[in-house]
Amino acid sequence: MKKLKITGGAQLSGSINVQGSKNSALPILAAAIVSGGETTVHNCPAISDVEAALEILSYLGCRTERDGDSVFVDSSGFSRTDVPESLMCRMRGSLCFLGAILCRAGEARLGYPGGCRLGPRPIDIHVKAMRDLGIEAENNGDELVFRAERPRGGIVSLSFPSVGATENALLAASGVRGTTVIINAAREPEIKDLAAYLQRLGVPVSGAGTAEITVEGGVDYKKTAEHSLIPDRIAAATYLCAAASAGGRVELRGAVYEDVASVAEILSEMGCEIKTGKNSLELIKNRPLKAPGREIITKPYPGFPTDAQPPLMAACLLSEGETVFRETMFESRYRQAPELIKMGADIRVDGKTASVRGVRRLTGAELRAEDLRGGAALAVAALAAEGESVISGMEYVDRGYEGFDMALKSIGARAEAME
Ligand code: UD1
Repeated sequence: MKKLKITGGAQLSGSINVQGSKNSALPILAAAIVSGGETTVHNCPAISDVEAALEILSYLGCRTERDGDSVFVDSSGFSRTDVPESLMCRMRGSLCFLGAILCRAGEARLGYPGGCRLGPRPIDIHVKAMRDLGIEAENNGDELVFRAERPRGGIVSLSFPSVGATENALLAASGVRGTTVIINAAREPEIKDLAAYLQRLGVPVSGAGTAEITVEGGVDYKKTAEHSLIPDRIAAATYLCAAASAGGRVELRGAVYEDVASVAEILSEMGCEIKTGKNSLELIKNRPLKAPGREIITKPYPGFPTDAQPPLMAACLLSEGETVFRETMFESRYRQAPELIKMGADIRVDGKTASVRGVRRLTGAELRAEDLRGGAALAVAALAAEGESVISGMEYVDRGYEGFDMALKSIGARAEAME
């Protein structure tokens, strides 16, 4: 979808089935090459980042096939260890192919990874983690070259709990004989999901979801595995913010409260009611919102997720009082702010801090998505604005949200995809 037209003002009502997690899908699809066998990934979202991962798998010699929400990967034909920049640059998540290729082949040559333009995204923590495993890294200009000369299990100590570096360490360590302990590991639910997939292959992994993960590498892998991805907590958080912004009553089927707790708690402080069901979450907003009584500081899980900051900012625009955001994860994560200001929002950005003062009304405008979550945030705001908004650059949103326009429509939003 190129553009999305939203006519604001409709109360939302209905249910959305939360898609499978993008950030689980990418490392798990990469990990499908580890065993040299066949993997079926269920609940795999139809989004362009997943398409990009499947293209990389095909390039590497794997056979892939989608059947509904299941993706089948046969990695027996794996025949090369390089991923060119033209494929790497489509998304930052392509970096998880590093650990997977190393695990399978002991060497990897990668073009520089891409992704949303959120400021500098270095890879020093990944490189240090590989070196801790005896894997040498070299930057030869256009390519990053990794070679497992004398690989060994051991201690991998991360200076920051980077999600991607934890995934790469886990994947690379799975291919290295001996025990590896990853210290200061990221604790995101997607790490647990990747570990669960590796366990299905027969890799002994323990501690995923805590700051210390132990993996026993070099085992014989099972040749077939089936895995169902966890629900996407950022998509769930976005739809919660959409309901908070537009008002009404929206149920998210499949959402896990614990995974979105940091976002849900803020929305309830703002005056939304959140009900948890057995396998669902419901948000009810039937009165004006007030600003949360604390700063929103983005942090690694279980802290407030940087990916949910733009949609929450959009949900705060009409709330009474001032909301202060402090972005600690990425440098350029307020790219939605100038667009929201076009709608009448009162936002002041000063370096890592953004202050939002609630206004009485927002007006529809011509808007441009500048990144994935920022683009979704524009839609969240447009739902509450008077009149029509047309958001261009929706290709960014398609990277991570499955059928975004249809999901919004299904809960009563006046949303229309435009080419
Ligand atoms: C993952 C998510 C992304 C999310 C981010 C933070 C995927 C595909 N993407 O990205 O949606 O926004 O976690 O929750 O799962 N850093 C370094 N050196 C490194 C690696 C990271 O300085 O070698 C810094 C980054 O610049 C950033 C911070 O660490 O400031 C967090 O990055 P990281 O956790 O690695 O994020 P990603 O894995 O890229």
